[in-house]
Amino acid sequence: MTAAAATQMKAPAGLSNKAREMMEAINAEAAKHHVWVRTQANAPAQRPWFSQTSGEGGGELASGRVAAAQLKTLPHLWRWKEFRPYLQRISEIARKADVSPIEFADRQSILLLNPGLKGRLQVTNTIRCAISIYNPGDVAPVHLHSPNASRTILSDKGGYTVVEGERCEAARGDLILTPNGTWHDHGNDSDEPVIWIDMLDWPLLEFLDIAWVDHDMPGAQGNTRVQPTTKSDGYSRRLYARGGMMPTFVDHQLGVGGSPAPLIHYRGADVQETLHDLRKEKGDPYEGIKIDFVNPVTGKPVFTTLNYSAQLLRPGEETELKRETAGTFYVVIEGSGVTEVGGQRFDWARNDIFVVPNFLWRRHINTGKNDAVIYSVSDAALLKNVGHYFAQGRAKDGTVTELVQ
Ligand SMILES: [Fe+2]
Repeated sequence: MTAAAATQMKAPAGLSNKAREMMEAINAEAAKHHVWVRTQANAPAQRPWFSQTSGEGGGELASGRVAAAQLKTLPHLWRWKEFRPYLQRISEIARKADVSPIEFADRQSILLLNPGLKGRLQVTNTIRCAISIYNPGDVAPVHLHSPNASRTILSDKGGYTVVEGERCEAARGDLILTPNGTWHDHGNDSDEPVIWIDMLDWPLLEFLDIAWVDHDMPGAQGNTRVQPTTKSDGYSRRLYARGGMMPTFVDHQLGVGGSPAPLIHYRGADVQETLHDLRKEKGDPYEGIKIDFVNPVTGKPVFTTLNYSAQLLRPGEETELKRETAGTFYVVIEGSGVTEVGGQRFDWARNDIFVVPNFLWRRHINTGKNDAVIYSVSDAALLKNVGHYFAQGRAKDGTVTELVQ
């Protein structure tokens, strides 16, 4: 029985046909008191996704007043060959500018907009992604913020980030973390522009209205206001990056954030070596050879909100279908392939970026002749912390397996 039918049955004679109309009329008056009289049934944002296993669907918007302003992340691919020219153009403008964009806009960057999220500066429900270009000599002054952030380096080399006094020299495939509450500044003292991807949990903190930035670091130096470098390149890697061993003489707390990961620089070369050393293992039928970046002290994801991973797909490898309650953002580091998402097909190559929204079935295929390496960021960490992370797999015969329930 529908809610409307139930209302009709319970309504006193004479009022049943008019009840809704009369309540809507009250709404005209109630609006000025910021009140809404319920005249519709609940319209949840999501159908029971776990029991509807056959279709490619998902991503459908609910309708009605209860679901007003609801948005859904859509699958999308941003191609390097399409977004790179924008970076080159702003780099060129910056080179000739009397006042550089980095001064009036904070950064020289483009932000990726998920087409389902109506122009909001976000690629999934929780993740913001900017792609920044730093010309030789550019400096982003020291600051600290409540969102967690990271840099994934696309350029072969050049550029640096200083985090809580540790200088991290950037190279391709590096992941450099700036956990919430850590002072950091960036720059490029090489001869060539450098490009990297910034990813943040900003939309989540914005939703909670707890996003803030502090630019006034005590002791910041010079016109460009940077922090003193007190720890050389590789400091946190020397402490934590050899696996299974942890120093006993340092405080693992970094900055003023709640639970920052003390290892802040994961090198692309180490990621490649680890993945390639594992490439003869069987791997995961849904992911291939996959590794997670973890906080070395806790073994948990590097942020409480986002987790970062890297995976290798061997030539010809086709994963099985999987879907999660988490939304995932991918960056192609090397190789080429296809990801099928909710019935759509996305062909990707080096430096392309794509989004797999929550709830949609997806699978990856390495269509190239060489290994493919893709990095990913998702809000699975957050969902695990709040008890909402679930995942399913689907075999070719349609059999569905609960992977995490
Ligand atoms: Fe920042």
